[in-house]
Amino acid sequence: MSQTFTITVLPGDGIGPEVIEQAIHVLKAVEKLEDVTFTFEYARLGGCAIDEDGTPLPEETLEKARRSDAVLLGAVGGPKWDNNPAHLRPETGLLGIRKALGLYANLRPAFMLDCMVEVSALKEEVVRGVDLMVIRELTGGLYFGEKKRYKTENGEVASDELIYHEYEIERIVRRAFEVARLRGKKLTSVDKANVLESSRLWRKVVDRVAHDYPDVELRHQLVDSCAMELLRWPKQFDTIVTENMFGDILSDEASMLTGSIGMLPSASLADGNFGLYEPVHGSAPDIAGKGIANPTATILSAAMMLKYSFGMERAANAVEKAVHKVLNSGVRTADIAKSKEEAVSTKEMADKIIAAM
Ligand code: NAI
Ligand code: MG
Repeated sequence: MSQTFTITVLPGDGIGPEVIEQAIHVLKAVEKLEDVTFTFEYARLGGCAIDEDGTPLPEETLEKARRSDAVLLGAVGGPKWDNNPAHLRPETGLLGIRKALGLYANLRPAFMLDCMVEVSALKEEVVRGVDLMVIRELTGGLYFGEKKRYKTENGEVASDELIYHEYEIERIVRRAFEVARLRGKKLTSVDKANVLESSRLWRKVVDRVAHDYPDVELRHQLVDSCAMELLRWPKQFDTIVTENMFGDILSDEASMLTGSIGMLPSASLADGNFGLYEPVHGSAPDIAGKGIANPTATILSAAMMLKYSFGMERAANAVEKAVHKVLNSGVRTADIAKSKEEAVSTKEMADKIIAAM
């Protein structure tokens, strides 16, 4: 029986619409290969929504997202809205939609293709073969705890509360074991259990959940040690799971192992199969409208959608393989090309990937 999925598409600002257009072409190519039909529902988020609707996150956008099976997002933001008050800033729309949709698990893969090792700032032997996934808790912890600021006789005081409930830890940790099971079956849980009470609870929950995943090898690691080891020998890692702030920092560190920001996808998952998929990069106002942005990160985000929201692993692998094949054959957009002359356009890159599928 043919499957049907509804995808809310949020092109956003800057290069967002350019890279999204190509990811949609790839999904249409998937429809030809598999017995599946996608319905694309377009909506506004970010700066374009501020201009059109007077708010970065219109209610209509949220409603469409809630009715759909997954969300595909380009990027939001740009200098035009930089000096706006908080409620009229593009990022407010992004944080708002993540929170409203309950997207608590942020998956950020970092991988190094053999043909790209020269792009990394690190030694070739260190980065060759890197293929890891950082899973960051996205809706709890320090960023959402109570914030206080007050004056005393000895000057100002500020505090941020780091709070985690057992159920918040359990759901992200289960997600991480599930993902590790689909990957290299090795999970590193990162915390600061020698100092933080919230980390001691985190570790306890991880050990309990681990009983349900005897096939996944588990290791606990302190966050400072993990930050060092990611640079010293990143190949020791397969899947990493950690709380919000540690994950914010470690996922950015991990993405830099591989060099180009135009290549890295991400997924933010809620309970069940629902998720929001977006490239790690921003709206790149410096190259917007030129047709030269690298669409790879968005195309690989669409592949993650196939895998994690639609259970279409074979199609996801086909897209990933096609991307690898095209890059291996030397096709490059300007951000990863040796010279401007040999660089292909956003559309040419996507066309090559579709042809390789
Ligand atoms: P950025 O990621 O947009 O750009 C950083 C650099 O990487 C720029 O030189 C850009 O040209 C290049 N770049 C980024 N993506 C590329 C691609 N696909 N192909 C080729 N080159 C690419 O980060 P930046 O400049 O800090 O932020 C620009 C705007 O994007 C800001 O308004 C920021 O708030 C917003 N932003 C939005 C995000 C999102 O929507 N999730 C994430 C990060 C930033
Ligand atoms: Mg960050």
